[in-house]
Amino acid sequence: MNVRIRRAGEGDVDFLVSLLNEDSVEPFMAASRARDREGVLEAVQASEASPDESGVFVIEVEEDGGWARAGTMAFSLANRRNRIASLGGLAIHPDYRGQKLADQAARLFQRHLIFDLDFHRLQLECYAFNERAIRHAERSGFVREGVKRKAYQRHGEWVDAIMFALIREDLEP
Ligand SMILES: CC(C)(COP(=O)(O)OP(=O)(O)OC[C@H]1O[C@@H](n2cnc3c(N)ncnc32)[C@H](O)[C@@H]1OP(=O)(O)O)[C@@H](O)C(=O)NCCC(=O)NCCS
Repeated sequence: MNVRIRRAGEGDVDFLVSLLNEDSVEPFMAASRARDREGVLEAVQASEASPDESGVFVIEVEEDGGWARAGTMAFSLANRRNRIASLGGLAIHPDYRGQKLADQAARLFQRHLIFDLDFHRLQLECYAFNERAIRHAERSGFVREGVKRKAYQRHGEWVDAIMFALIREDLEP
């Protein structure tokens, strides 16, 4: 399936709000991630205003001769001196799951962030209970770097986070 990613615009906000609040998505997102309309709009506007500092992206698939929205992912600048970006907010709409779209999108995202935006390190964390996301991260070339033990309170419990990263040298050894 043909996949592309593009920076989200204000016209994508309704799609993003509805996806982030899906029953099969919301429990896996960082509790701190904005998912109300105002917060999502603010994140989209910030992404458009300062494209090197944060990004909200839409994942699209080619369908019936056009492009259909299938998911989202995001990044934010974590460390300017060392050119580190934190990735997050990944979700594929349930209608498009099971085709490894997230893997294709992650590889496009990695190349954009490293080669177009000149980041050197991309890092992300998954809740340890999110086995699908962990399998996806491993398949997509991110390297597992460790466990943050009981780092976050989610669903009324302290949960571990699994840390992954990809560095520029992984793409051009
Ligand atoms: C993690 C995620 C992005 C992977 O999406 P993907 O590219 O479709 O990944 P896959 O192709 O491996 O499919 C994921 C699973 O969905 C299953 N699936 C297939 N059709 C489905 C459907 N209609 N609804 C729900 N799940 C479906 C697949 O069988 C697969 O299960 P498995 O991993 O147990 O084999 C996606 O599962 C998702 O959006 N999850 C919720 C948000 C989330 O966890 N984000 C990551 C935060 S770190």
